[in-house]
Amino acid sequence: MNSFKISDDGFLVIDDLLHPSISDKIEDVIFKETRVGLGECIEATCEHPPNHKNVYEQFQLTHATVLNGEWFWSQDLFGIHSLPLLSAISHLGLTPYDSSLARLKINLQTKAYGDAENRHNTPHVDVVDSNYIAMIYYVNDSDGDTFLFNEPNKTDVNDLTLKARISPKKGRIIVMDNDILHTGCHPTKNMYRAVINYGYKPK
Ligand SMILES: [Fe+2]
Repeated sequence: MNSFKISDDGFLVIDDLLHPSISDKIEDVIFKETRVGLGECIEATCEHPPNHKNVYEQFQLTHATVLNGEWFWSQDLFGIHSLPLLSAISHLGLTPYDSSLARLKINLQTKAYGDAENRHNTPHVDVVDSNYIAMIYYVNDSDGDTFLFNEPNKTDVNDLTLKARISPKKGRIIVMDNDILHTGCHPTKNMYRAVINYGYKPK
C-alpha cells in the first residue's frame, strides 16, 4: 500500500475541479480528435465474464497511451488527456514530478441494447500493484454508474457487497486505492459513455 492515504474509505469523489470550458474541451478532444480502436473490453475480463445475472459485457472502444507502464501509439494528445490527472494530483497535494504513470486509458462505451439495466461490467482492479492510485475521470454526462466493492480482487461475484455506487458526471473524478475492486456499466439511456482511467504511483 502506498503511504499516501486517500480517505478512511479508500476513495474520494471530486467534482468541478476543472473549469467547465476545460472539461468541454476535453470532451471535444475525446470524441472528435482522439483515435480509438476496438480494444480489449477490460483486460482479461471481458472475454470471460463471470456468468452472473448482475454482469453484462459488450465491446468497448479504447485509446491507451500508457498501459502497464509502457507507452503506446498516439501520444500526441497526452497533454490534454492528462489534464484531469494533473489537476487531481495537485488537488491531493502531490506532485507529478515524483511519480510514475502506469496507465492512461480512455474507454468509450456505447449504448447497450441488451438486457443491461442495473447490470455492471466485470469487477476488476486496474493495475495489480497496491502502490498505485487509480483515478477515473468522467468525460461526458451519461448514465452507467461505477460500482466499488468491499471485497478484494478475485472474489466470487456472488460474494460481493457494494461499497459505493457513483454516477458519471462530466468533470467528476474518482480517486481510489488501486486495490479497490470496481467496475463500470454500459449506458442504457445515453448513446455513449467515456472515461479516462489513470494508474498513478506517488513516491
Ligand atoms: Fe477499472
